[in-house]
Amino acid sequence: MNNMDIEKIRKDFPILSKKINGNPLIYLDNAATSQKPSAVIDGIKYFYENINANPIRSIHSLAEEATKAYNGAREKVAAFINADPEEIVFVRNATEAINLVSFAFPFKEGDHVSTTYMEHHSNLLPWLRLREKGINVDIVSISDDYELDMDYYKQLPKNTRLVAVTHASNVTGTINDVKEITRISHEQGSLVLIDAAQSIPHMPFDVKDIDADFIAFSGHKMLAPFGIGVLYIKKDIAENLKPFLTGGEMIKDVSLSKVIYENAPNLFEAGTQNVEGAYGLGLAIDYLNKIGMGNVEKYENELTNYLYERAKELKNVEVYSGKSKAFSGIFSFNVSGLHSHDTAYLLDKKGIAIRSGFHCAQPLIEDRLKLDGAARASLYFYNTKEEIDTFINELNNIAEKYGRR
Ligand code: ALA
Repeated sequence: MNNMDIEKIRKDFPILSKKINGNPLIYLDNAATSQKPSAVIDGIKYFYENINANPIRSIHSLAEEATKAYNGAREKVAAFINADPEEIVFVRNATEAINLVSFAFPFKEGDHVSTTYMEHHSNLLPWLRLREKGINVDIVSISDDYELDMDYYKQLPKNTRLVAVTHASNVTGTINDVKEITRISHEQGSLVLIDAAQSIPHMPFDVKDIDADFIAFSGHKMLAPFGIGVLYIKKDIAENLKPFLTGGEMIKDVSLSKVIYENAPNLFEAGTQNVEGAYGLGLAIDYLNKIGMGNVEKYENELTNYLYERAKELKNVEVYSGKSKAFSGIFSFNVSGLHSHDTAYLLDKKGIAIRSGFHCAQPLIEDRLKLDGAARASLYFYNTKEEIDTFINELNNIAEKYGRR
């Protein structure tokens, strides 16, 4: 393992010392949401005790402080992904970010938008709905090794305006070459949206290097509170978008006959925002920066390799993730003959939290993988080799007892 002091890190997360069903909690459901460090939990209390006011609109001193905290968080997010602050729009989560683009983008009847077979519903349903407006929605296929059909991107259908793709799959763990997809899509005149909800929490991410036009991610998967997410919109692109929601603080001037809208990012942040959430996301980013995203990525890769190495010992277990050239800390599997919910229930009795079912990616699991659900363990940087040992040992016991040979 590299030089990260995991025992010290774990002490920063109060919930990790909790017992579940009489056993120490082993939290392996990080792709669903991450746990939160004291710096974030205490910071939210601090916010309400010291900063709380409605930012941007009120001009009193406390509101000034709230505005500073809110825009300070925007600056931290921008620096974290190498963007400019005006390119950062605060939303509720990646789902809202992608919905926003699907409404704000100036699609015309007959245009094409593409998404893929490996998407989470958040990067699928907003596009499928566009069919109601006469927009063609293309679904890029995946190979049996869970790689995207890159040939599709080399020759996009005529009138493709937007290519939407996940950076990392929440089921197969596949990490897609989004930089290359962006490059070849741009060459053909299409813009690109990346769902980075499963990647930004786990690896260094540079928007200028990848060069995509829209990037969506959620705070709660990267140590921040629920209800705060980010939509990055590349400068210049925002000018061509319509507002998604209308209301307070997204306008320059309003009369009953004429409305002059604000510029981005305020244009897309109608109404009082989740200021506490943005502040908490800023604190989460401070925490991640202290560890260093390069260290997070390296350590998680080591843990992932260890998990897959140990998984080779398992009998009566089918594994659905980790076949692609690059993959993240996702381990999707089933005990042969056992429903994933039963596996999750049996592991939970030992204090091990995993997710089971369709993982909000039903077309991928049901239609493409032909499964009625999958169990999934997903890692974060506070997990340990010892936790993986316990998980594999308990899974082995379940597979031996209930698995079909
Ligand atoms: N996208 C989240 C997951 O994969 C909710 O569990």
